[in-house]
Amino acid sequence: MCGIVGIISTQSVTKRILTSLKRLEYRGYDSAGISAIKNRKIERCRAAGKLSNLEQALVKQPISGSIGIGHTRWATHGVPSIENAHPHVSGQVAVVHNGIIENYQQLKEELANDGVTMQTETDTEVVAHLANAYLQAGMQPKEMMQALLSKIQGAFALLIMMAQHPDTLLAARKYSPLAIAYGDDEMFLGSDALALAHLSRKISYFEDGDWAIITKDEAKIFNLKNEIVERPSKITDASNKTPDKGKYAHYMEKEINEQPEVIGYTFASYCSPTTGKITLPKFKFCPSELPKLTIVAAGTSFYAGMVAKYWFENLARIPTEVDIASEFRYRNPVLIKNGAALFISQSGESLDTLMAQRYAKENGQNIISLVNVPESTIARESDTVLKTLAGPEISVASTKAFTTQLVTLLTMAVHWGELRGVLSDREAKKITDNLANLPSLLARVLSDDLDWIGASSELALSQDVIYLGRGVNFPIALEGALKLKEISYIHAEGYAAGEMKHGPIALLERGVPVVMVAPHDEWFEKTSSNLKEALARGARVVLLSDDKGIEKLHEAATWIFRMPRVHPILTPILYSLPVQLLAYHTAKEKGTEIDQPRNLAKSVTVE
Ligand code: AGP
Repeated sequence: MCGIVGIISTQSVTKRILTSLKRLEYRGYDSAGISAIKNRKIERCRAAGKLSNLEQALVKQPISGSIGIGHTRWATHGVPSIENAHPHVSGQVAVVHNGIIENYQQLKEELANDGVTMQTETDTEVVAHLANAYLQAGMQPKEMMQALLSKIQGAFALLIMMAQHPDTLLAARKYSPLAIAYGDDEMFLGSDALALAHLSRKISYFEDGDWAIITKDEAKIFNLKNEIVERPSKITDASNKTPDKGKYAHYMEKEINEQPEVIGYTFASYCSPTTGKITLPKFKFCPSELPKLTIVAAGTSFYAGMVAKYWFENLARIPTEVDIASEFRYRNPVLIKNGAALFISQSGESLDTLMAQRYAKENGQNIISLVNVPESTIARESDTVLKTLAGPEISVASTKAFTTQLVTLLTMAVHWGELRGVLSDREAKKITDNLANLPSLLARVLSDDLDWIGASSELALSQDVIYLGRGVNFPIALEGALKLKEISYIHAEGYAAGEMKHGPIALLERGVPVVMVAPHDEWFEKTSSNLKEALARGARVVLLSDDKGIEKLHEAATWIFRMPRVHPILTPILYSLPVQLLAYHTAKEKGTEIDQPRNLAKSVTVE
C-alpha cells in the first residue's frame, strides 16, 4: 500500500533513500517525501504525485544528513496531496508509516484536548504528535516507543526519527511488512527486500509486534513483551538491479511479452522437460488423503483460484472451495479437519490474504502459499511454499504472475490427480506435454499480426464492455474485465456466458462490445448461443477462439482473434494473453496511465 525506507549511516543518505523509494514505487505513488536530520534539525522535502516530482523537488530543496526516512504513498486517509504526504513531523519527531492507525480519530480527539492542532487529514499524523509529546514529557526513546505502541491500534510499519537523538532510528511492525538490512557502520530499513537488496543482501524480517532501536552499528529488536529477540538473517535473492522497461513502452507490455519465457521457467521448475516427472515441495499432509482444499486470494489471484477449482475438482477430484480473501474469515467457513488452505498472492503481502491465512492456520488447516516473492510474509508464514518464477512484476496490472500461477496450479492438480489415482498417466502426460509446448503457442500469438489496435480503438470509445466465458474460462472473462477496468478506467463486467440471460443482458444495446472467450471446447455450442443472444441485441462481438470456433462464428463477430488450438484444460492460460493485450492496447489508445493506474497499488497491505 505504501513504501517506507530508513537509513542510519556515517554517510549522506538522501540519494540512497530515493533509490529505494523508486524500488518501492509499485506499492504506491500518490505522493512521496524524505526527511533527514542535520545538526539536530529535521529537514523535509515532499511532493504530490509520482516519485519523479520528489526527485525534482530535491534538486530545488536538497536535504542531507546521515540518518533519514522516506515514503511513497497510496492514500488511505486524506487525499493525495503534498500536505498529506509523509514524512509527518511534530516538534522533534518525523514519522513514515505504512498501514492504518485504526483508533486515530479517538487519538486525534485526545490530542485536541491537549491543544494539538492537526495539520493533515491523515491517520499517521497522530503518531508523530504522540511520539513528540512523550519525548517532551521527558521520556527516552525506548520508553516513548513502549508508550506509543501501547496507545496506537491497527496495522503499521513505522519508522521514527528524533532530532535530539540523531544516532537512533526507531522501528515497529504490526501486520504491515518491514525488513532490516545490515551494512558496515550503517543499517537499512524498508518495506521489503526489493527496497534494500541494492544496499545490502543480508536481511532479516520483523515479525508482528516487533519493534526496534537501531543505531548504525546495532539493531536491538524487541517483541510484544518487550523482550530482546533475534530475528534470523538470510542472504536475500531479491534482485539488486533496479528494474527497467528495456525496449518496451511500459512494464506491462514487457511483462506480457515475458510470459512465454517465465511460463517455461516456472513449469520446468516443477516438471522435468525430459521425463515429464512432476516434483512438488513437501506437504505436511498426504495429497491422496486430502479431504478438502480451500483456495483464498484477492483480485487477479482470486481468478487464478477460480480456474484452479475446476482443475482440482476435475483432475484430482478434490472438493475445492474458492474464497475472496477479504470475505473468507467473516463467513465462518466450514473448515474440514486435516484440510488444506492454499493462498495465492503475487506480492505475498496482500493483508486481506495474509489475515485469511492466519485465520485458516488458527483453524487447523495445512497452509500452502503460491507466491512470486518467496521472502514475503505470506510465504514465511506457510507450511509449504510454491513459487512462480515470473521475476519481479512491476506493473500494477498483473499478467505474467497470473499465468505462471495458472501453470503452477495446473501442474499441481495433475500431480495430485495421479497421486489420488483418478487421473491416468496417459491423460496426465497429455496435459504436461501441452504445458511444455505452451510457451511456443504464446510466443506465436505475440508475434502474430493481430488487429489489437482495431478492436481496442473501438473499446476505448465504449462506456461499458461485457466479457463472457464458460466453464474453466469464466474466470478469464472476469480477469479480462478487471484488466480493462484497471488500466483504461472503462466500466467492464465479466459474466458466465450462461448467466447473461438471467439479467445482465438488459445491459446490451446497439454497439455495446462483448468479448467472448470461446475456444472450441465442450461448452462451445452453448457459448455460441449466448453469443447470438448478444448479437440479437446489437452487441459488437470480439471473438477469441480457434480455427474450429471461428469457422462456426466468424459471421457473428466484428473482430476475430485467432488462437492456436490447445488441450481444452489449458485454454485459460492461453486466453489470458488476448484479454491482457486488449486491455493494454485499449489503455494505450485512451492514453491512461498503464503501469501505475490511478487509485491503485501493486500490493495492498491494508484491509
Ligand atoms: C491485478 O491486476 C490487480 N493489481 C490486483 O487485483 C491484484 O491481483 C490483487 O491486489 C492481489 O494481489 P496479490 O496477488 O499480490 O495478493
